[in-house]
Amino acid sequence: MPLSYDLIHSSSTIPMTTMTRHETLAERADALLARMTLAQKLGQMMMPERMAATADDVRDYHIGSVLSGGGSAPGTNAVSDWVAMNDAYWAASMDEAPGRLPIPLLYAVDAIHGHANVRGATVFPHNIGLGCTRDPELVARAAGVMAREVLATGVDWTFAPTLAVAQNIHWGRTYESFSERPEVVASFAAGYVRAVQGDLGADGVIACAKHWVGDGGTTAGNDQGDTAITEAELERTHMTPYYPALDAGLLTVMASFNSWNGDKCHGHRYLLTDVLKGRLGFDGLVVSDWDGVDYLHEDYGTAISMAANAGIDVFMVSVEWKQCLALLTQQVEQGVVPMSRIDDAVRRILGVKLRFGLFEKPRPAARVWSNDPAFGGLAHREVAREAVRKSLVLLKNDQTLLPLSRAARILVAGKSAHNRGHQCGGFTVAWQGETTNEAIAGGTSVWEGIQALTPMATLDESGASADAASHDVAIVVIGETPYAEGMGDLRAGGRVQPGSQVVVKPHTLPPYGKTTELAQLHPDDLATITAIAAKGIPVVTVFIGGRPLVVNAELDASQAFVAAWLPGSEGQGVADVLLGDFPFHGTLSFAWPASAAPSYKDEAPRFPFGYGIVTG
Ligand code: GLC
Repeated sequence: MPLSYDLIHSSSTIPMTTMTRHETLAERADALLARMTLAQKLGQMMMPERMAATADDVRDYHIGSVLSGGGSAPGTNAVSDWVAMNDAYWAASMDEAPGRLPIPLLYAVDAIHGHANVRGATVFPHNIGLGCTRDPELVARAAGVMAREVLATGVDWTFAPTLAVAQNIHWGRTYESFSERPEVVASFAAGYVRAVQGDLGADGVIACAKHWVGDGGTTAGNDQGDTAITEAELERTHMTPYYPALDAGLLTVMASFNSWNGDKCHGHRYLLTDVLKGRLGFDGLVVSDWDGVDYLHEDYGTAISMAANAGIDVFMVSVEWKQCLALLTQQVEQGVVPMSRIDDAVRRILGVKLRFGLFEKPRPAARVWSNDPAFGGLAHREVAREAVRKSLVLLKNDQTLLPLSRAARILVAGKSAHNRGHQCGGFTVAWQGETTNEAIAGGTSVWEGIQALTPMATLDESGASADAASHDVAIVVIGETPYAEGMGDLRAGGRVQPGSQVVVKPHTLPPYGKTTELAQLHPDDLATITAIAAKGIPVVTVFIGGRPLVVNAELDASQAFVAAWLPGSEGQGVADVLLGDFPFHGTLSFAWPASAAPSYKDEAPRFPFGYGIVTG
């Protein structure tokens, strides 16, 4: 299939000297493709996880890309270890031994709120908080910093932005969604992609919009569940945010685990090929999600052929990539997957690498931003701190308790008052996140931020020392502890809802809890608030969490209540606003529920979409 107009004529960083007079990127891709063996072509379609593939494997099997899953880091997880790892993989991919064709490898990570796998990275608020800023320019600046820290580690590709439009707060990935409204998600998409990809030169990283399509619309918010809606609703709610991303030159899209009306997206030819690549003209590549192909059929070879024929171009395989490669080879040799589909997939992969200027980039260790000393530095953290400030939503402020005076005798309490792990949430150092300060190098907890601004503050996470004679006011920082994906689901049932998703390999991750009521999930939080309030000390409650939860009792016991979401490493940004250095700016990008009923969206919310007491 000829490459699309814009790929053939797209601007490129490749100096004309490296191309013959009339050679275009598409002609370069076709010329390369014509020289490739089947093994080299299928190798380009494999994306194993780093722990399952050595540099020798990259060389011997012509692997096109490698990824780090959440929490998968080389060596001591220092920036230099990442650069060294990528340099070794790249060198192996460029080996020119007989029978090899040097095609540079791409390395990919989930830098979804900063390059947060890496110790010491600048960790930004998760998307739900960024959505409450309603500030696409700020979010683009944040995305640019995230990309720069990705480049510092020699990595080429980030699986961001997430363009999910989460419709049910029971979903464990709600915090990866900017908003429940497609137009709000769409407002961030183009700026984010442009900030990450730049001009696809030395300063650019390949972006990946995910997950196509309908990830945020599953029944009961079951992760990887079934999105049972009309095509019109699927298009209006879940496809809309992709349009500006595609217009911005998005290079990759990740297929979604969910099903649409019972059919898995990973095997959905209509959604992956007819709509995304056909009607919308997407000329980049589609990457599967983590072993997402496995769920299509109990026979792995059949599943692989279903995915390839549906339009998956790159197979993200956590461990069994050699089996995947062997079975895909078999499916091609048997004609189950036509060579024309393989050539289309490889053309797309080569096209992305050529547009990214990958063939002209030096080895990772020699690239301009590798080992950049600005990684995790103050300048980057200041951008994150600004994002934290603007993400905060003031839900209650009786007697205008906030902002607090720096002269006030402030008691800081609550399980998340001094816990940078809790602030960061999932996809931070570990896939499921961390629960300590030690695990998050750099940054400030909320307590550390308050302490830096006022000497009169004291920390007692239990709140037991609260005393109206000694304390004028208490800040109680509570909420959720970190989680990711299905382990963040709130499900009345057990591990997996029947019929929610998979053909095989039932999703066995245990959910976070059974209800959206915080007092049921973490009763100690309410206990801390009420015990302090009972002593006549006014309470400012700060909610750390990945979604709005039912907090009626906590709200009633608090004189002021702030939604801080998952602010990331820069807790100082919370202190900046609580103590009045900056105003409250944020407004809800999700309606805030009044009840924990499964049908909560049929009732009036406690606070509507767009609510927030703005003070400046
Ligand atoms: C995960 C997520 C996806 C992520 C991928 C690689 O399962 O669904 O968002 O990019 O695997 O970590």
